[in-house]
Amino acid sequence: METEIVRKKHQEIFGCDPEIIVFAPGRINLIGEHTDYSEGFVLPMAIDMGITVAVSKIPDSSVIAVFSIDFDQKMVALYSDFGRSKDNWFNYPMGVAKILHKKGYNIGGIRITFAGNIPQGVGLSSSAALEVAVAFAIKELYSLNISNTELAKVCQQAEHEVVEVQCGIMDQYISLLAQKNTCMFLDCRSLKYELIPCNFAPYHLIITNSNVLHKLSQSKYNERVNECAEAVKILNSSDQKKSLRDFSLEDLEKMKALIPENIKKRARHVILENERVKKAKEFLTSNDFESFGKLLNESHASLRDDYEVSCKELDWLVETAISIKGCLGSRMIGAGFGGCTIGLFTDEALSEYKKKLGEYEEIFGYRAVIYESTPSEGVHCL
Ligand code: GLA
Repeated sequence: METEIVRKKHQEIFGCDPEIIVFAPGRINLIGEHTDYSEGFVLPMAIDMGITVAVSKIPDSSVIAVFSIDFDQKMVALYSDFGRSKDNWFNYPMGVAKILHKKGYNIGGIRITFAGNIPQGVGLSSSAALEVAVAFAIKELYSLNISNTELAKVCQQAEHEVVEVQCGIMDQYISLLAQKNTCMFLDCRSLKYELIPCNFAPYHLIITNSNVLHKLSQSKYNERVNECAEAVKILNSSDQKKSLRDFSLEDLEKMKALIPENIKKRARHVILENERVKKAKEFLTSNDFESFGKLLNESHASLRDDYEVSCKELDWLVETAISIKGCLGSRMIGAGFGGCTIGLFTDEALSEYKKKLGEYEEIFGYRAVIYESTPSEGVHCL
């Protein structure tokens, strides 16, 4: 569907056929939130919604011309001397081209047309999907000799340097490397990963979009990254450990007199969340969904109380879900301050949950939208 839309639009806007069309998925993170930039563990899976990109070459140039169907806007610039655009969506495709060029890959000009069937700004990683789709399309278009794991780092670097969000590597990894019917257990230090077979039947894995846009998240996100770095600095007084991944609750306890309360809470979240991811992997492997569900609830409580990245709408969705018999667990996902929750439900619990979502709109004035997704494939040509 999107394939035909982007193809036609590419012809209309640029007057030529696309040479390649690529789809990159968004993701949900089953568990392991705000652990990736502390070199911890995460367990994401790709979803069946994402970004479709059509591209063609502009030989002998360093021009990037991008048309966004969703924003109905065209932007043109030279990637060789690009700074940052006030139209933030443009920074993602541009950032990727700029970093590839900076790293010495031989790329020419490029026309890009893209559209998404994924809600934007709600924590499903539409931005990583855009970066990945563009990076992969450029790789194919110019036959670049670069692995998908390297491409993930290019996308992350684009986000750090051009978008100016100090994100971890989770979203780009899963969008590039996911395989159908699996989720990914990723060690964000070694970048080694395992694809774990993932089938929640007879339960439903439900995504609920709170429709609260996580606008604040860019600055708040960087604030959390800095707080984790601050925690490491304090905890490191006697040792040379590199990230929160290396510390335990005992280390935290020993230093408690020296650590400000908010920094201690952030560190506690990361330390315990890493433990939960390892347990979650075991529970999923043995199809112990009840125990897995409890971990979701614990993760949410920790993100709400210790990491302080939830909001009243997300808390309401999670509390409502877990008050229903037959909901095994629920939690917010992604950067937070809005966005989505996930939950695991029996048939009956799901019907009950859907009924209760009517109240959400009455209380908060936003409509909650639900999606059911199975673990999907990573980036690919269409
Ligand atoms: C965003 C970032 C990821 C990760 C999550 C929180 O999605 O892009 O790197 O940090 O937030 O887990």
